Amino acid sequence: MFKSIISKFIKSKGGNKEVNGKVVCGCFKVTEQDLKNAIKNGANSFEEVQAITKVGTGCGRCIEGNKALVDYLLKK
Ligand code: FES
Repeated sequence: MFKSIISKFIKSKGGNKEVNGKVVCGCFKVTEQDLKNAIKNGANSFEEVQAITKVGTGCGRCIEGNKALVDYLLKK
């Protein structure tokens, strides 16, 4: 299951970052659209989104904001 989520995410990734939305994690250039794609492809928690996108796994300064954003996106 998790492998298929990652595989779908990788397929959906690519293209121009500026087209794909605002960068929400500077360490890994993760965009808000990347978070949405991870959720769309089956991620059900911040930890799963993190495992797929690497969001917040660098310096860590974006974790709180992105956790709130992912929680919001999961409720949508
Ligand atoms: S900015 Fe997201 S981990 Fe550093």
